[in-house]
Amino acid sequence: MESGKWLVEKRSSFKGDSSAKESENMSETGCLSIIVLGASGDLAKKKTFPALFHLYCQGFLPPDEVHIFGYARTKISDDDLRNRIRGYLASDRGSSMDRSEDLSKFLKLIKYVSGGYDDEEGFKRLDKKISEHEISKNSMEGSSRRLFYLALPPSVYPSVCKMIRQCCMNKSDLGGWTRIVVEKPFGKDLDSAEQLSSQIGELFDESQIYRIDHYLGKELVQNLLVLRFANRLFMPLWNRDNIDNVQIVFREDFGTDGRGGYFDEYGIIRDIIQNHLLQVFCLVAMEKPISLKPEHIRDEKVKVLQSVLPIKDEEVVLGQYEGYREDPTVPDHSNTPTFATMVLHIHNERWEGVPFILKAGKALNSRKAEIRVQFKDVPGDIFKCKRQGRNEFVIRLQPLEAMYMKLTVKQPGLEMSTVQSELDLSYKQRYQGVTIPEAYERLILDTIRGDQQHFVRRDELKAAWEIFTPILHKIDNGEMEPSMYKPGSRGPEEADQLLAKAGGLDK
Ligand code: NDP
Ligand code: BG6
Repeated sequence: MESGKWLVEKRSSFKGDSSAKESENMSETGCLSIIVLGASGDLAKKKTFPALFHLYCQGFLPPDEVHIFGYARTKISDDDLRNRIRGYLASDRGSSMDRSEDLSKFLKLIKYVSGGYDDEEGFKRLDKKISEHEISKNSMEGSSRRLFYLALPPSVYPSVCKMIRQCCMNKSDLGGWTRIVVEKPFGKDLDSAEQLSSQIGELFDESQIYRIDHYLGKELVQNLLVLRFANRLFMPLWNRDNIDNVQIVFREDFGTDGRGGYFDEYGIIRDIIQNHLLQVFCLVAMEKPISLKPEHIRDEKVKVLQSVLPIKDEEVVLGQYEGYREDPTVPDHSNTPTFATMVLHIHNERWEGVPFILKAGKALNSRKAEIRVQFKDVPGDIFKCKRQGRNEFVIRLQPLEAMYMKLTVKQPGLEMSTVQSELDLSYKQRYQGVTIPEAYERLILDTIRGDQQHFVRRDELKAAWEIFTPILHKIDNGEMEPSMYKPGSRGPEEADQLLAKAGGLDK
C-alpha cells in the first residue's frame, strides 16, 4: 500500500448511514473521524491505538483526511493521552525500526475529550470537535465518516449508543456514514445479549454495527475458508466418514493478569469459548457459502450453530487454577471457571457423530491456540499405523502460525518400518520477511471499508448464546463446580479423561 493512498471499496451514495445501501467498488474519500471511547483503558492502550498506528504507518490513515479522538471520563489533556500512547508504543513490535518520525506525526492526529458515558454535554463537546475537524477539511471532495470504537465495559454500551445517536451522528450533506464497533463480551447469556441487541438495534441499523471478535482477524482463522473451499484435497475428507474428532484449543500460560475483577464476572466460557473458539468452530464446520459476500458467509455460520445439540453436563469439565482467588478483586469463594473443556455435537449430514472438543484455560503449561483435526484409523491396516498415531491436520493459530499434516511414512533406511512425520507449512520459514498484521489492524480496516464479513451478526450471536446459556446458568447457580488445578499444569485430569472418552488423543 502506497503511503497516503486511500482506497476503500464502498462509498455511501445517499445521505444517511446504512452501508447496506452503499454502492459498491467506488473509492471513498473525505474526512474520517475515528473516535475511541474508553480511550483511557486497557484495550485502547494495548490494541486499539497500536492498531491505528500500524494502519497509519502503512498509509491507510492519511493525515489530510483522518483525525482520531479519544473520549473517556478521566480528566487528561490531549498531550497526556498522546504521551500514554507514545509510552505504550515504545515497547511495540514496530520499535525495532525507527518509527519516531511516524509516531510524532501520528500523535498529532489525536485529540482528547473528557466526559461521562451518559453525559449529553460531553457528547456535544465531542461532536463539536469532530465537526471542527470535518469543517477544516471541507474543501476536500468526498463525504465525512465517523467510526465510534467502544473500548468500554458492555454495561455502558446502551447509554453510549444513545448519546452517539442523539449528539454525534454524521451530518455531512454529501453522504458518508456513522458506524459503531462493539467489543465482546456482548451480553452474559441469551436474554441479556438479546436485550442489549434490541437496545442498540433501536438506535442503529445492523449494517452500522460491527461486533468485533478479534479471533476473526487472525491470519490462520481467515485462512480457514480458503483452505477448506479452495483445495480439492480437503473437500472429500472433511466429513464424518473420515474425521474422528476435532479439537479447538486455547491455552494461556498466565492467569487473569490484573483483570480478575472483569474475569470473575464472566469466566472462561464467556471470555473465550462462546466467542473466539465458537467462531473458529463455525469456520471449521460450516457448509460452503454460496459466495464470499458477508451475508452468505454469516448465513452458513448461523446454520451450523443452529445444528449444535444441547451440551450434556457429563461432557463438560470445569477447572479453576489454585491461587485464582488470591487476586484481591476476586471473591474468596468464587466458583468461576478459569478452565473448561466441553464436547459439541452437530446434528447434520456432514458431522453426525463427530465430537468437537472445545478447550480453553488460563494459567496452563503453554500459550497456544490451535485446531486439531484427527482422522479415523486406516481400515484394513497392514502397517500397524495405529502405533504411530492417526493422520492429523493441525492448524496453529498462535504463536508461530503453522499448518502441518501428520502422516505415516516409511522410516528412511533399509528396514520396511513406518514412522510418523509431518508435511509442515510453518509461516515463518515459508513467508520470510512477511509481517502478519495484528488482528485488530485488519478488523479496524474492515470497519472503515464497510466489510462485515469478519464481524458477528445479531442472529449469529443469538445462536451462540443459545448453545451456552443452559450450562452457564448451571454454573452461575452453583450446580456445577470447577475442579482445582495447579498453575502451569495441563488443567484438571478429568479434562484428559473426557478427551479420551470422546476419542481424541490429546497431544
Ligand atoms: P477497562 O476496564 O480498561 O475500561 C475501559 C475504560 O472504560 C476505562 O479506562 C474507564 O475509563 C471506563 N470504565 C471502566 N469501568 C467502567 C464502568 N464501570 N463504568 C463506566 N466506565 C468504565 O476495559 P478494557 O479496556 O480492558 O476493555 C474494554 C472492552 O474491550 C471490554 O468490553 C472488554 O471486555 C473488551 N476486551 C478487552 C480486552 C483487553 O485485553 N483489555 C481484550 C478483548 C476484549 P474512564 O474511567 O476514564 O471513563
Ligand atoms: C480476550 C480475552 O478476548 O482474548 C482475554 O478477554 C484473552 O482473556 C485474550 O487473554 C486472548 O487473545 P489472544 O489474541 O492473545 O489469543
